[in-house]
Amino acid sequence: MIENLKSESENESESQGLAAFSTLEAFGPGIYKNVRVHMNLWIRLEKSTRFFVTAHKASIRSLLGAMSIAGETLSPEPQETETWVKVHRRKGRSSTKKAAPMGLVQSREPAPGIPSLTLEQVKRDHGNLAEQWKSSPSYRQLQELLSLHTASTGISVTKAICFGLGTFDPPDGAWQQKRNAHVQLAAFLAIVEHLQGKTGNQIRCVFQEPIFNPVDKAFIASLGHEIVESPVGFQLVDPETLAFGVHLYIDVYSQVIATCTPAMLVGTSYETWEDSRESQMSTQHLDWTRMKDMDQACVKAQFPDNLPDRTFSSTTIHWRRKEQS
Ligand SMILES: C[S@@+](CC[C@H](N)C(=O)[O-])C[C@H]1O[C@@H](n2cnc3c(N)ncnc32)[C@H](O)[C@@H]1O
Repeated sequence: MIENLKSESENESESQGLAAFSTLEAFGPGIYKNVRVHMNLWIRLEKSTRFFVTAHKASIRSLLGAMSIAGETLSPEPQETETWVKVHRRKGRSSTKKAAPMGLVQSREPAPGIPSLTLEQVKRDHGNLAEQWKSSPSYRQLQELLSLHTASTGISVTKAICFGLGTFDPPDGAWQQKRNAHVQLAAFLAIVEHLQGKTGNQIRCVFQEPIFNPVDKAFIASLGHEIVESPVGFQLVDPETLAFGVHLYIDVYSQVIATCTPAMLVGTSYETWEDSRESQMSTQHLDWTRMKDMDQACVKAQFPDNLPDRTFSSTTIHWRRKEQS
C-alpha cells in the first residue's frame, strides 16, 4: 500500500503522506476512528490526531476495502485512475478537543456527476447495504432510542426531510461515500417507519441534495418520495418535521433550523459545532444563538454509530421537548 503513495513533486508532501499511512498501518484497521474521502482525505485517528494527506486513490480504496464488511455483493468499484489528491497537513493541530464534524463550510457549489450506475444497480446496492445495516447493533440501538424518547416527548411528525445524503454513485467511486448514502437513507426511512407505526399516519418524505444525479433521483422517486431543489427543503421545515442531515456543512445545517425547531432533528450536535467554532473564521456569521436555543429545546441522544464506517459519527438525535412545542 505504502509504495503506491506519491507526492506531486514535493518530498515534504510525500513524507507526510507516508508518515500518515505508516501510522495507520502501525495501528491496524481497528484503530481507525474515521476515514473519509471528500475533496481531501481527512483521516481522524484516535486521540484526535488529524492529518490531511494526499494519497493515491487506489491506496485509499484498498484501505477502505480492508475495512469493509466481507460478503457484500455490490456494484463494481470503478477502475483505478491515475488521479492524485493534494496533500495538506495542518500544522500544530494536536488538540485534545472532541473531533470536529465532517464538513464545516462547503468550499464550492455542489453539482451532480454523470451517472455510471443503472437504476437497477443502485437498487441492488441499497438492498444489500440496508439489509446489512439492519442486522447491525446500530439499527437495534436506534430502535431502542426511538421507543424510549419518541412517545415521551409527545412530538407529532407529518413530514420528513432528508438533507445532504450524498450521491449513490460518486463520480470518483468513493466507496465510503456510497455506503454512507445508502445506510443514511436506510436510517432515515427506518425512523419514518417507526414514527408512522406509532400514529398510523403517512409521513410525507422529501429529499434535498444538490449532487443527486438523474439515477439518484429516479431511485428516490421509485421509493415513492419527493425531491426538491435547494432551498425549497429549508422552507418546508416546520414544527411537525423530522429534519435529517448527517455531516451537513454548518451553513447548510443552520438553514435547516433557521425558522423553527423541528419536532425531531438528526444531525451534528451543538456541542460538536462549538468545539470547532474558534478555529473556523468562516463560521462566525452563523446564528449561534439560534443553534443554542434549538439545542436547549431538545432531549438528545447520540446516534448509534455504524462501525467501522462511522456513518453517524458526531451525529445526535434531537427530540423537541413537550413544553417547547
Ligand atoms: C459533508 S457531505 C455529507 C454527505 C453524507 N451525508 C455523508 O455523511 O457522507 C455534505 C452534503 O451536503 C450536500 N449539500 C450541499 N449543499 C446542500 C443544500 N443546500 N441542501 C442539501 N444538501 C446540500 C452536499 O452535496 C454533500 O453531499
